[in-house]
Amino acid sequence: MGAKVLIVDDEKLMRISLESQLKKERYNVRSVDNALDGFKMIKSEEYDVVVTDLRLTGMNGIEFLKEVKKYNQDIIVVIMTAYGTFESAVSAIKEGAYDYIAKPFSTDELIIKLQRALQYRKTTAEVNRLRREIQAEFEYYNIIGNSEAMRKVIETVRSVSDRDTTVLIKGESGTGKEKIAGAIHYHSNRKTGPFIRVSCAALNREILESELFGHEKGAFTGAVKTRRGRFELANGGSIFLDDVDDIPIDMQVKLLRVLQERTFERVGGEETLHADVRVICATKKDLLDHVREGNFREDLFYRLNVVPVTIPPLRERKEDIPLLITYFLKKFISQNEDALPEVSRETLNVLLAYNWPGNVRELENIIEHAVAFSFKSKSISVETLPEYLRKTDVRTDLLTMNLSHRESLSLQDTLIEVEKKLIQWAHQKTNGNQVRMAEILGIPRTTLRNRLMKLQLFEKAVS
Ligand SMILES: Nc1ncnc2c1ncn2[C@@H]1O[C@H](COP(=O)(O)OP(=O)(O)OP(=O)(O)O)[C@@H](O)[C@H]1O
Ligand SMILES: [Mg+2]
Repeated sequence: MGAKVLIVDDEKLMRISLESQLKKERYNVRSVDNALDGFKMIKSEEYDVVVTDLRLTGMNGIEFLKEVKKYNQDIIVVIMTAYGTFESAVSAIKEGAYDYIAKPFSTDELIIKLQRALQYRKTTAEVNRLRREIQAEFEYYNIIGNSEAMRKVIETVRSVSDRDTTVLIKGESGTGKEKIAGAIHYHSNRKTGPFIRVSCAALNREILESELFGHEKGAFTGAVKTRRGRFELANGGSIFLDDVDDIPIDMQVKLLRVLQERTFERVGGEETLHADVRVICATKKDLLDHVREGNFREDLFYRLNVVPVTIPPLRERKEDIPLLITYFLKKFISQNEDALPEVSRETLNVLLAYNWPGNVRELENIIEHAVAFSFKSKSISVETLPEYLRKTDVRTDLLTMNLSHRESLSLQDTLIEVEKKLIQWAHQKTNGNQVRMAEILGIPRTTLRNRLMKLQLFEKAVS
């Protein structure tokens, strides 16, 4: 069945002729002679396009258009205008009409307009679908984490989303900074506006300045035409400045001004522009260190740090790992939870023992790998994990002792051997840093010292 078109015109002959000609072209057409009936039709059935005259008895065309758009934003409205009433066509377009057609017109003219309008409707529907999908990705329920730390993060994000407050997100690589930034934007009252991401680390100084603030034609060699910067593109929405610590010091003052006064100029430009933008920043570094080293302006730091959100590394919230595994299994298998493969105990142990330098992103990649290598089997076994992970699992290494040829074994001595091995492993892993060693072994530092003395390990380090 063709697209559904509603014609609203008080000229009877016009209606009859349009209806019959469009029907020939396989459109599904209805027609009425006034706006009120038109509106009733729209409420009772779903229409793709409304073609309406502007001069109608009762409610006029513009009012009708407004009502239609208020009722359903997606319905395309094409206006028919009488000769010489171009101005009213313009005001109709301003009110949300897609196009206008001047009477008298041929059916072919109208059909071309209808085809274009329907194509437009299809594209906008697609864009809206993608937008909904992106928005869903940033829903709170898609930020996985039940650890105390993550619950705190989510709570902060919830409470600041709706305000225009600047947010500074801190966290190691792959901890979910961009995800959190997106969540803030898509839960704010700017969510229908743009979410513009700028990687301050990826661009060199010159490019970064014109990237952020735009430039005027001729501002520098190669600036052949005026270009709008990301702050302009983000107007009405949010800008996400990733790796904000990488903004060169002499440009920081410009950013400070945007934050304080909401104004800036394009590179080489004189006109002062207004930035209606919410700023969200992220950094992997400790910005205060940068301040102390003189690489980051202190005043800017305090401007950015209004609401700090710290996402802890995954190794400090391992209780989130099982939840994340399920979430990513669902993502990569796209089936309901009942049909998800089981993760073997051994696999889970390996994943829990690992220290996750790449954080959630690394876990996501590993689950994708595991799914690909599980060949649709019912369980995710250790063999499906990348090799580097299997190797690093000390616990399984230690527990896979081959004892079949032994007649007897001293429990005491074996435990001491195991303990030595673990301490040696921690020593190697931390370059002998005892604070870190104690941390990764999960024991107090004093206990570690005692054990080191008792086992006569690394005597120099102990003394
Ligand atoms: N809490 C979480 N719940 C679900 N998915 C997450 C979570 N945290 C991160 N992810 C996912 O992990 C991946 C990495 O996250 P993201 O890109 O936000 O990290 P990042 O901190 O910006 O990393 P980088 O510093 O490297 O830019 C993404 O696919 C993201 O969707
Ligand atoms: Mg990121």
